[in-house]
Amino acid sequence: MNSKKASESLVVMTEIVLPNDTNTFGNLMGGRLMYWMDIAAAISGTKHCNAPVVTASVDNISFTNPIRLGNVVHIEAKVTRAFNTSMEVHLNVWGEDIIQQYRYKSNEAYYTFVALDPNSKPRIVPHLEPETEDEISLFESALRRRQLRLILGGKMKPVDAVELKALFTQS
Ligand SMILES: CC(C)(COP(=O)(O)OP(=O)(O)OC[C@H]1O[C@@H](n2cnc3c(N)ncnc32)[C@H](O)[C@@H]1OP(=O)(O)O)[C@@H](O)C(=O)NCCC(=O)NCCS
Repeated sequence: MNSKKASESLVVMTEIVLPNDTNTFGNLMGGRLMYWMDIAAAISGTKHCNAPVVTASVDNISFTNPIRLGNVVHIEAKVTRAFNTSMEVHLNVWGEDIIQQYRYKSNEAYYTFVALDPNSKPRIVPHLEPETEDEISLFESALRRRQLRLILGGKMKPVDAVELKALFTQS
C-alpha cells in the first residue's frame, strides 16, 4: 500500500466555550474538550487512511490550564505513525482570549484509531512519511508509546516491548 505524508492528515479545529460547555467554575468541562479532541483526531486518522475509523484508545490527558468561558479553543491533530491497521494521532490544544489577545497551552494527548473495512474488521492503513524534525521525532517515539499502551491494554507482553525496554537500559 502507498504511503502518505504526515502533513496530509493535519486537522485544525476552532471552537468557542459557551455557557453550556462549562463547569461550575466557568471553565470548559474536560469531557466536552475530549469530545472535540476525539472528533478532530478521528478526522485526522480518516484523512490518512481514507476509511472509517474507531477510537481504540486514548493516552493519559492532563489539563495544564483551564479554558475560560468565552475563550476560543484551538485543536490541532496530526497522525504521527501508522502501524498495520492502527494509527497514532497527536493533539495539541490551546485556549485563546481574543479580547485580551493572548494564547495559552491547555493540553496535549495521543489517540489511537483503527481503520475498519465494510465488514467492520480492522483493515491495513497506508504507511506514514514524516518530513519535519518534529514529525520525525514523534514518528520515532510512537513505537514506544504503542508498546506501553498495548501492555497496559493487555495486548502485548512486556518481554516483547524491545524499544520500550531499551529506554530503561540506555546509559
Ligand atoms: C479497536 C478494535 C477495532 C480492535 O479490534 P480487535 O479485534 O481487538 O483487533 P486486533 O487485536 O486485531 O487489533 C487491531 C488493531 O487495534 C490495535 N489495538 C487494539 N487494542 C488497542 C488498544 N487498547 N490501544 C491501542 N491500539 C489497540 C492493535 O494494536 C491493532 O493495531 P495494528 O494492526 O496496527 O497492530 C475493537 O476493539 C473495537 O471495535 N473497539 C471499539 C471501538 C469503539 O467503539 N470506539 C469508540 C468507543 S466509544
